[in-house]
Amino acid sequence: MKKITVSLVITFFAVISLVVFFGSSVSAQAQTESCVSAKCHITMGKDKFVHGPIAVGDCIACHVPTSKHKFTPITNVGALCYKCHDRVDTKKGQHKPVKEGNCTKCHDAHQSPFKFQLRADGKNLCIMCHDKKIIEGKFVHGPVAVGGCSMCHNSHQADFPKLLNATGNDACFQCHTDKAEAFKGKKFVHQPVKEKCASCHSPHAGDFKYMLKKDGLEDLCFDCHKDKKDWLAKIKVKHGGLETEKKCMACHEPHASDYVKNLVRQPIESCNMCHDKPLDTQDGKIIDMKETLAKNKSYHGPIKQGDCSGCHNTHGSDYYRILRKYFPPVFYAPYNLKNYELCFNCHEKTIVQDAKTTTLTGFRNGDENLHFVHVNKEVKGRTCRACHDAHATNNPKHIRDAVPFGAWGLPVGFTKTQNGGACLPGCHQKFDYDRIKAVKNR
Ligand code: HEC
Ligand code: HEC
Ligand code: HEC
Ligand code: HEC
Ligand code: HEC
Ligand code: HEC
Ligand code: HEC
Ligand code: HEC
Ligand code: HEC
Ligand code: HEC
Ligand code: HEC
Ligand code: HEC
Ligand code: HEC
Repeated sequence: MKKITVSLVITFFAVISLVVFFGSSVSAQAQTESCVSAKCHITMGKDKFVHGPIAVGDCIACHVPTSKHKFTPITNVGALCYKCHDRVDTKKGQHKPVKEGNCTKCHDAHQSPFKFQLRADGKNLCIMCHDKKIIEGKFVHGPVAVGGCSMCHNSHQADFPKLLNATGNDACFQCHTDKAEAFKGKKFVHQPVKEKCASCHSPHAGDFKYMLKKDGLEDLCFDCHKDKKDWLAKIKVKHGGLETEKKCMACHEPHASDYVKNLVRQPIESCNMCHDKPLDTQDGKIIDMKETLAKNKSYHGPIKQGDCSGCHNTHGSDYYRILRKYFPPVFYAPYNLKNYELCFNCHEKTIVQDAKTTTLTGFRNGDENLHFVHVNKEVKGRTCRACHDAHATNNPKHIRDAVPFGAWGLPVGFTKTQNGGACLPGCHQKFDYDRIKAVKNR
């Protein structure tokens, strides 16, 4: 309200009243008084909320009389209102009816049962023009449920898009201060959360929990991570971890986290939430990984660094045990470098390629490459798993105590010496090797 205009108006009414009081005849005023009588416009001024000028019976403030009971039609409502009120169309974003000066689409010029002479209250006003659907659904946002459209939107104008009283996520954080606090300190914030809460949540209502646009456990994720959906449908070895009740949410936080890739816990711990017991798979039972890591103290490099993903694709893969590359699930395999792509992603493949070497590997007897001897065979080449464990053991160089051989746990019987070592496995006699002084085994 323009303070000055209002006081001028009030002064004007006061003067008029005084004039009327002293019996002078003012034709305009007479006309005003005659508008509301027992016969005509009798309800005017009787509603719960009455517009200022009506309250004082000043009809001609807006209806300019021409001849007897003829009035100039009001063609520009906005301009009329702005005669006495501050403009409400000065900010960047303006509500269309305001911009067009259609004030009376929302306000009754005279009176109404609702505050500010509105034509309806709360959300009912808005849904006179807007589709009711946007505020319907199984789950309705707190402020919308109580009709508080104006808690977020300004009815006339705003400096921010969509008539919002704040920009971007601040529109949410003004109430969800706990979330603002919780996200602030996090190392990893999901990209869309940085940008726009409303890309996942409807600010109004929806059929999915938390007013999410789709079911939040998985479908929502696929909306943006469409490549994942397509790919998961194609792969051969699925991971049971994606098929629990919580779906994607079993491992990921939707908003923010202190762990890489928005994981719910530090990576290894996030695996061991479920791998803390033996589990059944399409390829037989698998070990309790948590227990294995607790009992075996020498961790393989990647695990020492806290990462299982160097070898496994947690979402699934085309290979045995959801490995990133093929790895033979068997004890013997004809030599083929491709079989060991997984290991040679990180290790030098030369360790199995040359029969003689004095540098490429420590597993040699003099210059005889024992990796070559065991692995590089046309038939019955031993796979890495015959001797090494990919995760953890209590032996040096991740040599196993025993290796599954059919139903048997075939012992490896490895001992390490300063310049070599020895094994007494279940498959042959004890053999020694020494890098400096080749041992002659029987
Ligand atoms: C603040 C300006 C304003 C004042 C004061 C005002 N009117 Fe109006 N009136 C309007 C507008 C604007 C319309 C056009 C209807 C619309 O756009 O909603 C209107 C329309 C009317 C109509 C046409 C029917 C209708 O309701 O739409 C009547 C009758 C009327 N006014 C009577 C009165 C009387 C009697 C008074 C004094 C008691 C009065 N008005 C005071 C603004 C005013
Ligand atoms: C002749 C001057 C005048 C005109 C023209 C006028 N108003 Fe008013 N309006 C007033 C006065 C006086 C008040 C009462 C001020 C108060 O209560 O603080 C008022 C009050 C209001 C209020 C309530 C404000 C509040 O804080 O309670 C609204 C809403 C309003 N007017 C809307 C309009 C609209 C919409 C129009 C155009 C159709 C309009 N006015 C035209 C003088 C006018
Ligand atoms: C889309 C509906 C809508 C339209 C159109 C609209 N208003 Fe309002 N107006 C409201 C609502 C709702 C309120 C109550 C306060 C609020 O929620 O912002 C209000 C409050 C007011 C008030 C009193 C409070 C204040 O902000 O000072 C005035 C005066 C007012 N409007 C004037 C106007 C004028 C002048 C126009 C036309 C240029 C207009 N309105 C058009 C919905 C509307
Ligand atoms: C008289 C009809 C009418 C009423 C009542 C009305 N609106 Fe609107 N609203 C419109 C129109 C027209 C548009 C423009 C739609 C478009 O461009 O598609 C609009 C647009 C909007 C927009 C989008 C603005 C933008 O910048 O994209 C919001 C938000 C909005 N209205 C909120 C509200 C709220 C909140 C209420 C109740 C306080 C309300 N409207 C009441 C007619 C109305
Ligand atoms: C909690 C804050 C909040 C409340 C309460 C709220 N809105 Fe919104 N509304 C928003 C946000 C945020 C957007 C912008 C969404 C976006 O950009 O995707 C929006 C957008 C809109 C739009 C524009 C839609 C479009 O597609 O452009 C309309 C219309 C609207 N709201 C109407 C309403 C109505 C009517 C109510 C009351 C029933 C209401 N809003 C209550 C936050 C809110
Ligand atoms: C005006 C205050 C206000 C604003 C602004 C607001 N909210 Fe809310 N929000 C609430 C209230 C109140 C609840 C209901 C709390 C409850 O039921 O525990 C709620 C509940 C929620 C819930 C459901 C929480 C639950 O545990 O069921 C989500 C999700 C949510 N809001 C998201 C948003 C988003 C996104 C925005 C920004 C577009 C936003 N809110 C803006 C007040 C607000
Ligand atoms: C990438 C999509 C996405 C974005 C963006 C997003 N959320 Fe969520 N939000 C979710 C999902 C999924 C859930 C349900 C989590 C669950 O089921 O445990 C959720 C739940 C919530 C809840 C209710 C449960 C809780 O954690 O308290 C609130 C409140 C909430 N979000 C607020 C926000 C706010 C505020 C923003 C913006 C800063 C935001 N969200 C951005 C996906 C999102
Ligand atoms: C609105 C789109 C959108 C939705 C919905 C969405 N995301 Fe994202 N997500 C992104 C964008 C954008 C990035 C960053 C670019 C990228 O890595 O692809 C991202 C990145 C990620 C990342 C990698 C984070 C990092 O630090 O590299 C993970 C994990 C993720 N999203 C999981 C999810 C999960 C789980 C859901 C379902 C709750 C989900 N996303 C829903 C858009 C979305
Ligand atoms: C069993 C745990 C687990 C589940 C369940 C899970 N993820 Fe992941 N996700 C991870 C891990 C671990 C990483 C990090 C892998 C890496 O660094 O390569 C990751 C990374 C991501 C990334 C970012 C890197 C990339 O691969 O693009 C996205 C996006 C992602 N996940 C989306 C999803 C979606 C969508 C779902 C549900 C369909 C889901 N995740 C389910 C564990 C999981
Ligand atoms: C939410 C529970 C859950 C989480 C978290 C989880 N897994 Fe699993 N995982 C399972 C279940 C159930 C199975 C057995 C079903 C299946 O996949 O065959 C399984 C099987 C496996 C298998 C054998 C797959 C096969 O079929 O041969 C590997 C390897 C595996 N998980 C690795 C991981 C890694 C690495 C992580 C952490 C990044 C992880 N898992 C996190 C539930 C989980
Ligand atoms: C260096 C690569 C590598 C890393 C790192 C790795 N794995 Fe494996 N994982 C494998 C290989 C190879 C197999 C198949 C082993 C076999 O069949 O002997 C396997 C098998 C598994 C199995 C099935 C075991 C069984 O009993 O058949 C689970 C469960 C598993 N890994 C979980 C994990 C978890 C959890 C982590 C992180 C703590 C992890 N892996 C890290 C390579 C790795
Ligand atoms: C993601 C990378 C990665 C993959 C894949 C990988 N490793 Fe390793 N490996 C390492 C790292 C890192 C070390 C630690 C090197 C160090 O400490 O100098 C290591 C150490 C080793 C060691 C002990 C070396 C030493 O000198 O102590 C052996 C044996 C080993 N890996 C075998 C394998 C086998 C067998 C495979 C295939 C099943 C494999 N690795 C796959 C990264 C990997
Ligand atoms: C017959 C058992 C056996 C097989 C099969 C085997 N290794 Fe080894 N490997 C060893 C022994 C023993 C050592 C320790 C040598 C030493 O330092 O004394 C070793 C050492 C290593 C090292 C440490 C660096 C080096 O060469 O000294 C890596 C890496 C390695 N092996 C990877 C592999 C890979 C990859 C495979 C499969 C392609 C494999 N091993 C197959 C027994 C084996």
